[in-house]
Amino acid sequence: MKETIEQLLNKVRSFTIKSAEELEQFRSEFLSKKGKLNELFDQFKVLPKEQKKEVGQILNILKIEVTEKYEQHRNLFQQETKSLDYNDLTRPSEPIHLGSRHPISIVRKEIISIFQRIGFVISEGPEIEDDWHVFTALNFPLEHPARDMQDTFFIRRNPDILLRTHTSSVQIRIMESQKPPIRIIMPGRVYRNEAISSRAHCFFHQVEGLYIDKKVSFADLKQTLLYFAREMFGIHTQIRLRPSYFPFTEPSAEMDISCNLCGGSGCAFCKYTGWVEILGCGMVDPNVLENCNISSKEYTGFAFGLGIERITNLKYRVNDIRLFSENDIRFLKQFTSAI
Ligand code: PHE
Repeated sequence: MKETIEQLLNKVRSFTIKSAEELEQFRSEFLSKKGKLNELFDQFKVLPKEQKKEVGQILNILKIEVTEKYEQHRNLFQQETKSLDYNDLTRPSEPIHLGSRHPISIVRKEIISIFQRIGFVISEGPEIEDDWHVFTALNFPLEHPARDMQDTFFIRRNPDILLRTHTSSVQIRIMESQKPPIRIIMPGRVYRNEAISSRAHCFFHQVEGLYIDKKVSFADLKQTLLYFAREMFGIHTQIRLRPSYFPFTEPSAEMDISCNLCGGSGCAFCKYTGWVEILGCGMVDPNVLENCNISSKEYTGFAFGLGIERITNLKYRVNDIRLFSENDIRFLKQFTSAI
């Protein structure tokens, strides 16, 4: 056994290690679990006692030399790789993959910031609501056909608990808890029991606006919406208000903007009318103010509600609302460079 160890010692001393691969060869030959060193220690265990002292000494020398040689070279190669990492400052860096915001988030942020610039503050409310906040307080009498305008999801067949069909419910929550002047913008997700198609979905997003103070007039509403349309779609955008009906506003209107694709001259997108509808609005109905304990003699206000998907469709020319919730990376990737 003594001779085997001496032969091995010579082999270790003459083993040249010039690369990381050679170092690995060295390690696996001598130092690994099934390597020579372990093999020798196993044989050593069963050696007759009288031989142990002599063989033990030389076996120890072998062990020390093998480990030292391995460690020295390991440090060398590690240093080499380290210095490579730090020295070449001209090496191109790893590509940084930019994430992207969802188009709905981009547009929601933009709408909010447009209204914040004229003093509106954000308010939010729950998506699971009760009948009072979504309908009754908003002047939808029980059994009134206007409730059918928005097909509702009820929770556990309880007619009182439902998923809000519009963000107008947040108006009520705020008017119940705050005193005028109130000037708020209310973004949020809403739900309607509608068949899913390229134009409708069972959930979508709205931004609601509400301004209550003394002497707020329809002219204020119109001017605010004109400001919004021009900030959002460009300075040359025209608006028009068409009479409409909502139980919670009187008078009520729907607002169109001049088609931002053809500039108003008529194209397939605006069905050759030159106009596209973007929101509903009106003066807050006195009944709604009274339902929230705000005097309708002292205060007036306006409200409006718009669909974020609709504005996004117009802005980015997306023609299928389902794309917003399908998580198709090919669609979402296109918004990487947007804010
Ligand atoms: N809540 C209405 C809807 O979802 C929009 C609206 C809001 C209309 C505020 C007028 C005033 O259709």
